Amino acid sequence: MKVLGIESSCDETSASVVCDDVNPDHRILSNIINSQIQLHAKYGGVIPEYAARSHVDAIDKVINESLEKAGCTLDDIDAIAATVGPGLIGGLLVGAVCAKTISIVKNKPFMAINHLEGHLLTSRLCYDVPFPFLLLLTSGGHFIFAEVLGVGKYKILGETLDDAAGECFDKVAKMLGFEYPGGPAIQKHAEFGDPKRFQFTVPLQKREGCDASFSGLKTAAKLHIESIENISYQDKCDISASFQAVVVKFITKQIEKAYRMTTSNPRSVVVSGGVAANLALRKGLLNFSESYNLKFFAPPLSLCSDNAAMIAWTAIERIRAGYPFSELNVKTKPRWSITEI
Ligand code: KG4
Ligand code: ZN
Repeated sequence: MKVLGIESSCDETSASVVCDDVNPDHRILSNIINSQIQLHAKYGGVIPEYAARSHVDAIDKVINESLEKAGCTLDDIDAIAATVGPGLIGGLLVGAVCAKTISIVKNKPFMAINHLEGHLLTSRLCYDVPFPFLLLLTSGGHFIFAEVLGVGKYKILGETLDDAAGECFDKVAKMLGFEYPGGPAIQKHAEFGDPKRFQFTVPLQKREGCDASFSGLKTAAKLHIESIENISYQDKCDISASFQAVVVKFITKQIEKAYRMTTSNPRSVVVSGGVAANLALRKGLLNFSESYNLKFFAPPLSLCSDNAAMIAWTAIERIRAGYPFSELNVKTKPRWSITEI
């Protein structure tokens, strides 16, 4: 089975051909990503209208390239999948309308995909990860701990009460004058910084459960930055290191609580989403997993951020699990929880 996936929910236009080969190394036949980072960098964040126009400009080219790289034509494709939510409505419409049109013209079934489900199944695209597993999904807009029992069977254990971790990385980076997206910039500067120089209080220490909160850390970072008169390169590195360290400490504390809330005895921990590219976080989660004798899986760095391979793969997982294809009148959904798929 070969599926063409399309992703356009935020600032990457991506198309990918993925097959259901038993060997994970042979599944991704192409994964073309046209990033809009340069377009949005000067504004310090994604401008939805510009993003939608850029998707329109890029999508045909990206699809053609993905087919070419995979060595196939639309006639060789068994199904078309596209992200229909959650995300920015303009971008979602571009990808969904394009996929539905191909579906009609080529008479191929269409599968509407939830972007978050794409992130959470990415590790299963790359490795043999058995269900059930404990999931941390951490991206620019979402922060969720969930117990993943099977395809489409997701139990949320905890979520952020305010900002997502990625959003917080981006905002602190902006305060430090780093380019968008801020996560990679903070990680880079943290390498040269002292993680103990600035004090941050770990959030929600007395709260039950495994919910999260990042806006207090953002405010603390702001106060630290404002307390320095002429901020130097080293100050920025030290703030980055101290901030990243507290984020990792907090997340590893909360995942331990999330693990205690699981009921299906998961033997693996999976992290996914853009922030999963953070090496300090991966190390913290690996240490946690090892201390509980759990296997730890993180997607390769190239598949942590938005891409269409995860969308095509999610369609394959859903087809294999027996879920029906989507009607062509399915709507795009800017908000769409993984528990409502
Ligand atoms: O999953 P993603 O590509 O897009 C969304 O669906 O949101 O995640 C993007 C987020 C951004 O906030 C970006 O700053 C963050 O992931 N990110 C990182 C790193 N790489 C990307 N955050 C921390 N460390 C990184 N290395
Ligand atoms: Zn994403």
